[in-house]
Amino acid sequence: MSRLLFEPITLRGVTARNRLWVPPMCQYSAENNDGMATDWHMVHLGGLARGGAGAVIVEATAVTPEGRISPEDLGLWNDSQRNALAPIVEFMHSQGALAGIQLAHAGRKASTYRPFDYDNEGSVPEDEGGWTTVAPSAKEYPGLAMPEALDQAGIDNVVAAFVASARRAIDAGFDLLEIHGAHGYLLHQFLSPLSNDRDDSYGGSLENRARLLLDVVDAVRTEVSNDVPLLVRLSAVDWVDDGLTIDDTVQVVQWLRDHGVDLIDVSSGSNLPAEIPSGPGYQVAFAQAIRRRTGVPTAAVGLITEPFQAEHILVTEQADVVLVGRESLRNTDFPIYSAQILRHENPPVPAQYHRAYR
Ligand SMILES: Cc1cc2nc3c(=O)[nH]c(=O)nc-3n(C[C@H](O)[C@H](O)[C@H](O)COP(=O)(O)O)c2cc1C
Repeated sequence: MSRLLFEPITLRGVTARNRLWVPPMCQYSAENNDGMATDWHMVHLGGLARGGAGAVIVEATAVTPEGRISPEDLGLWNDSQRNALAPIVEFMHSQGALAGIQLAHAGRKASTYRPFDYDNEGSVPEDEGGWTTVAPSAKEYPGLAMPEALDQAGIDNVVAAFVASARRAIDAGFDLLEIHGAHGYLLHQFLSPLSNDRDDSYGGSLENRARLLLDVVDAVRTEVSNDVPLLVRLSAVDWVDDGLTIDDTVQVVQWLRDHGVDLIDVSSGSNLPAEIPSGPGYQVAFAQAIRRRTGVPTAAVGLITEPFQAEHILVTEQADVVLVGRESLRNTDFPIYSAQILRHENPPVPAQYHRAYR
């Protein structure tokens, strides 16, 4: 039997062996606070590739030091960081997975303690290695330090940093680039009227609020080869009154499509604390709406934990790719497991393990 989850998918010049991918998940494990990938990243990412994923997207990787969510985040603002990622990419490729990376700037949500530092929460003070954050406007995320509003030179630096990091990612061997435009980080802070009070060409209308995201996309698209697929993760809605709506997001995706984006990774929320009606597949309807209304391929994510649930999303044409996050941490072989449950004829088992599956 053949299942859609295990159909290859081609975006521009690259083909993933299947449509069951791993979304970006921060590990907060650059232990020397230098943005460098470590043995943890090799084992974690290599294991997920070994488990059969079509693509593994590396965690939010900061394009500047002040763009890190925590001091322990990965970065790509220098060549040593590129060199540390390259062997991990090579290993992911050896396992048959595409390697993706999410390029990110956390804006006003930067400089926080990592979530498993259970003795501390909120912003890391400067005398403990934290830094002053930047944002579209001097408006803080509740419970975090006040950011400084970016001026034009600061905005230009952010665009240049995304481009330089994209170049390093390609040089490290990555196949897919994802720009983080979701979860209340810098590009989402610009997009959402809840965090953007600017009265210049980056604030006010949706077109103005989307300008930085589109500038980043244009600049990255120009820097990398036409064969490289560009993904953008968006929060389809803010889940807060007067915040971004699905209609706003559909408009933004139409612009992104016209600027050369190939797939939208459809998440939601996190620009402000909100009541989110979370449950199995709770964000899939947004992926479906964006796909239907824009014609742009989408990835669905959020509480997708069962093989039949994942297959159903593809069969009913709600998305083109299914991203499995936390369930992949509980079961790093989720794609192999899914192939078995779905009785797919050819599970993505590495040769070294064939004897275990006879
Ligand atoms: C440990 C952890 C780290 C995460 N880090 C990121 C990240 O770096 N970038 C991002 O866009 N989302 C991040 N997320 C969100 C996931 O990519 C995913 O969207 C979310 O967990 C919902 O999917 P799931 O229910 O399959 O886990 C993270 C989630 C977890 C559990």
